Amino acid sequence: MSFKLAIVGKGGVGKTFLAGTLARLFAKDGKNVLAIDADPNLNLHATLGGISKTKMKNLTPIREMKDLIEERTGVPAGTSGMFVLNPKVDDIPDKYHVKSEDGVKLIVLGTIKTAGGGCICPESALLRALLSHIILHRDEVVIIDFYAGLEHLGRGTSKGVDAMIIVVEPGTRSLDLAKRINSLAASLGVPRRYFVGNRISNKQEEEFLLNSSKELELELLGLIPYDTEVIQSDIKGIAPIDFAPECPALVAIQNIKEILEKKLASQ
Ligand SMILES: Nc1ncnc2c1ncn2[C@@H]1O[C@H](COP(=O)(O)OP(=O)(O)OP(=O)(O)O)[C@@H](O)[C@H]1O
Ligand SMILES: [Mg+2]
Repeated sequence: MSFKLAIVGKGGVGKTFLAGTLARLFAKDGKNVLAIDADPNLNLHATLGGISKTKMKNLTPIREMKDLIEERTGVPAGTSGMFVLNPKVDDIPDKYHVKSEDGVKLIVLGTIKTAGGGCICPESALLRALLSHIILHRDEVVIIDFYAGLEHLGRGTSKGVDAMIIVVEPGTRSLDLAKRINSLAASLGVPRRYFVGNRISNKQEEEFLLNSSKELELELLGLIPYDTEVIQSDIKGIAPIDFAPECPALVAIQNIKEILEKKLASQ
């Protein structure tokens, strides 16, 4: 079974932790998994595990591959001349990835400027075409670690996202952004949108997130507790799933994965 997941939410809510861990869990089941780092902070490799710092240092994000951008769009990166709007991208996922533990393929996109940012440049056209190709045509589990803006997905591509997971932490700002992302995703045509609460330390926070999921009218996939093992894994530079596979946060993500699979299979 192949499906495409987008993980979204406010900065620091735990998108990368969830995206990387889900990617590993699906790969452990024997699925072909393609993980896309579409977050400007470029840190998905850290939660996937098995990719050395040196390897990451030497990896050029697609957006910065000047020769590739010029070859495919017909004009140099950073220019605004007439460029090919539908550049060839189908060979890029297999050529420009690094492999993590359990064989997850990781592609690092680099910063994507949104349409709202006014950037109509060849590098954005290439990234948009690449994302669209991956979402609409790749036959594998694709997990995209996003940031808040989804505009660059475009309507056609958004419909190919099987499920969007909105991560929310206890707090009004995180909830407000979740509301905006949810309505944007709905207007773009993302078919299924789910809610995941993260970093919960007590009953009051749990209540806040349960109420938030109701308020947003989003189905709850699960609640992930605040877990010091996750912090420890970050300090040690080891992926949480390798550092503490049985810790409460990991058990919660395992449950989320199972619920998600059931939902995707039944619809
Ligand atoms: N359940 C949790 N318990 C404890 N720490 C957590 C938990 N989830 C995430 N963290 C920690 O919180 C920090 C932010 O998490 P993460 O990088 O996954 O968030 P993000 O949404 O991807 O952030 P950004 O928007 O900056 O990319 C990390 O240091 C991570 O280890
Ligand atoms: Mg992140």
